[in-house]
Amino acid sequence: MPLSRPNREAMAAIVGHSNVIENPKLFGPFTDDFTDHYKSKPLAVIRPKNTEELSEVVKYCYAHELPMIPQGGNTSLTAAASTSKEDCQLIISLTKMKRLLEVDPDSDTMTVESGMTLEEVQNHAREADRLFPLSFGSKGNATVGGCLACNAGGVNVLRFGSMRDLVLGIEAVLPDGRIWNGLRALRKDNTGYSLRDLFIGSEGTLGIITKAVLKLYPQPLYMQIAYCGVQSPKVALELLQKCREEAGSNLTAFELISSKPIERVRKYLPDIKVPENLTKTPWVTLIEISSRLVSTAPSLFAVLEEAFLKGWILDCVVAKSTKEEQEFWHIRESIPLADRTAGGSIHSDISLPIAAIPEFIEVTTKRLQERFPWLGDSVYGHLGDGNLHFNMVCPEHPDLPYENEEEIRDILYSEVNNFKGSISAEHGIGQLKREHNYRFKDSIEIEMMEKIKDAFDPKWLLNPDKLLRRPSILSEDH
Ligand code: LAC
Ligand code: ZN
Repeated sequence: MPLSRPNREAMAAIVGHSNVIENPKLFGPFTDDFTDHYKSKPLAVIRPKNTEELSEVVKYCYAHELPMIPQGGNTSLTAAASTSKEDCQLIISLTKMKRLLEVDPDSDTMTVESGMTLEEVQNHAREADRLFPLSFGSKGNATVGGCLACNAGGVNVLRFGSMRDLVLGIEAVLPDGRIWNGLRALRKDNTGYSLRDLFIGSEGTLGIITKAVLKLYPQPLYMQIAYCGVQSPKVALELLQKCREEAGSNLTAFELISSKPIERVRKYLPDIKVPENLTKTPWVTLIEISSRLVSTAPSLFAVLEEAFLKGWILDCVVAKSTKEEQEFWHIRESIPLADRTAGGSIHSDISLPIAAIPEFIEVTTKRLQERFPWLGDSVYGHLGDGNLHFNMVCPEHPDLPYENEEEIRDILYSEVNNFKGSISAEHGIGQLKREHNYRFKDSIEIEMMEKIKDAFDPKWLLNPDKLLRRPSILSEDH
């Protein structure tokens, strides 16, 4: 269904005709989600070019009760940037708002518009001889706004934290269209509620983040990266502790990967070079130590040598060049794509107390295997953060996992709950996990979140049906 004529004219008067997309043939990049599972059906896609235009668009939508779906790179894994109802919501894409506003090497900060991609941020930082450490597979599309909206994580959280830890200030357009300028570059600010932190992780339900002041770090000049084969997650945990003791904050990543997803990378993405050894042990760890100066770097080799003698490491491949370092990370970051290409992949991003991970994997794998013997597992993740991607796949019958998704997730999340974990560590809740979140999150926490939403957006027009469902007791439904 198209936009009504007055709405179309109002939108075009703000952003220009070419930035009001109504032809479904041009919707693709905005409507086909990253998991290939959600196909949005918006009234139109609106593409403002700056905060002021966005503010006018939101003011109009608020006054005319048009539901809005803010969207960055459309890489959400939880349908957080997809429509929740057909033919009645507008997708507001921020991808035209991607200016670099300032790089301040003296303060180690960079200010950008929120439609800039993560990869572009990394590149601008590198040009200034600085590091922006957040990184994950879809960095070429994911935007700063999207990373903030779901408090994205990735492979360097162990050392540098999630997106929340990497931002100092934000500017946001509120649900009624007013612009909140919280674009401060302060590292300390105790003047009341941390409103910035409310917007981060709110999945676009409280406001649309338009600009951000990001933190920069020294660019590491020295790096050691190795894949080490281990027998079990329990041994991997011992190795992690050892690396932490020896390398301290120079330990910048510690990933755990079962050999099965690596085999899938080899099978489904044959262009990617995968060293033979990586599938010879049941599990591998990918360890990165980095520092600015060689003289302050602890030796990964010394740690590995000791681990070999203890019998923890069964096999090891060390990257010998920058090119190999990149190839090693490319294998790891391609796992989600390999799982998706294989077909029938139910993905997840759970977190657990780190010490509970080995037992959790054993118990949960057994339970799922007993109930669904045809289900393959694809377990990998950021062991150093207690964050696993406990994915379930069935390439032979890709429809089967989706037909049983509800029960698969029930088993997985009830075990996460038993082990006192969280059902989302980095991808957020969106539409996909909303009902599970209601089930497992403390009801007082849910109630506080609903009240915050109602205070910011009393008409519940901004990113409706994501994260929260509108309680009938709060406001009139529409
Ligand atoms: C990763 C993304 C899927 O860790 O979170 O690869
Ligand atoms: Zn991850």
